[in-house]
Amino acid sequence: MSKISVIGAGNVGASCAEYIAIKNFADEVVLLDIKENFAEGKAMDLMQTAALNGFDTRIIGSTNDYSKTQRSDVVVITSGIPRKPGMTREELIGINAGIVKMVMENCLQQSPEAIFVIVSNPMDTMTYLAKTTAGLPKNRIIGMGGALDSARFRYFLSQALGCPMSEVEGMVIGGHGDKTMIPLTRLASYKGIPVSEFLSEDQLAEIKASTMVGGATLTGMLGTSAWYAPGAAVSTLVQSIVCDQKKMMPCCVELNGEYGESDICIGVPVVLGKSGWEKVVNLDLNNSEKGEFKASADAVRAMNSSL
Ligand code: NAI
Ligand code: 2OP
Repeated sequence: MSKISVIGAGNVGASCAEYIAIKNFADEVVLLDIKENFAEGKAMDLMQTAALNGFDTRIIGSTNDYSKTQRSDVVVITSGIPRKPGMTREELIGINAGIVKMVMENCLQQSPEAIFVIVSNPMDTMTYLAKTTAGLPKNRIIGMGGALDSARFRYFLSQALGCPMSEVEGMVIGGHGDKTMIPLTRLASYKGIPVSEFLSEDQLAEIKASTMVGGATLTGMLGTSAWYAPGAAVSTLVQSIVCDQKKMMPCCVELNGEYGESDICIGVPVVLGKSGWEKVVNLDLNNSEKGEFKASADAVRAMNSSL
């Protein structure tokens, strides 16, 4: 029996619930929102797709009744406000910090053994807040950002290469911010061959820049932040945990000396399984990439200090 609770039934929360259901690996998804009847409505609408999409996952909605989330294996926190065009993720800190802290406390009372996935922005700082306030083992607090940013990176790479995305590998580490993320162009590959064999330095610089503002570009087009790829990224991460798949993806986790950083939550490649994030994978970064990682960590730390 696996149970996932998704707090915040807005765009990202509902998309996440939908992908989890379609992937058919969980027994139950509880969607919880503060808005009266909103989560119940989303859950009913999603359940009415079950016969069409062929899944057995039960989706239940709740207006702020945390008892429904009891004994969740994984809790996903998407509650909070999204950015509007022109806003940075960082501008959301004041409102979202209060929401994330309160939601964490409520969820922990019901599911003291759960693994927490933090999505609300600014995600690196919200993950740090969750880690420092909950006092849970570090492996049970995971911020989702790098999985999404890496998917966007692979999209831009495949567009430039003119090949299917499944043939392209690439990771984005560092913070989940327009200026803090680090798309690792040197390590990206097309069928295992470095992409620099196929793309010029200028093309790679353009792909890197497009990836870094990938979220902002969509916010400008949609009038709010994106939800399909964020929801899909969360569902992939949750599936690796619940099904103990040991998938490797960049996630925001607490570092204790890895990559030369401590007392910070920031994106690095980790292996995800039943215990949450199970190990940090060390990449052999060159000096320039190490410098970018240090600058990213400094910016995330500065943001954390405003909590
Ligand atoms: P949304 O506005 O569609 O949904 C947020 C939901 O949270 C709303 O339904 C709202 O009623 C609910 N909510 C607010 N306070 C609550 C509380 N105290 N308890 C329960 N529910 C509460 O926003 P969207 O687009 O779903 O984004 C959610 C968050 O995720 C935003 O902070 C956004 O910036 C972030 N985000 C993060 C991404 C990442 O990669 N880490 C990607 C995309 C969005
Ligand atoms: C995104 O990257 C805004 O974090 C959100 O789409």
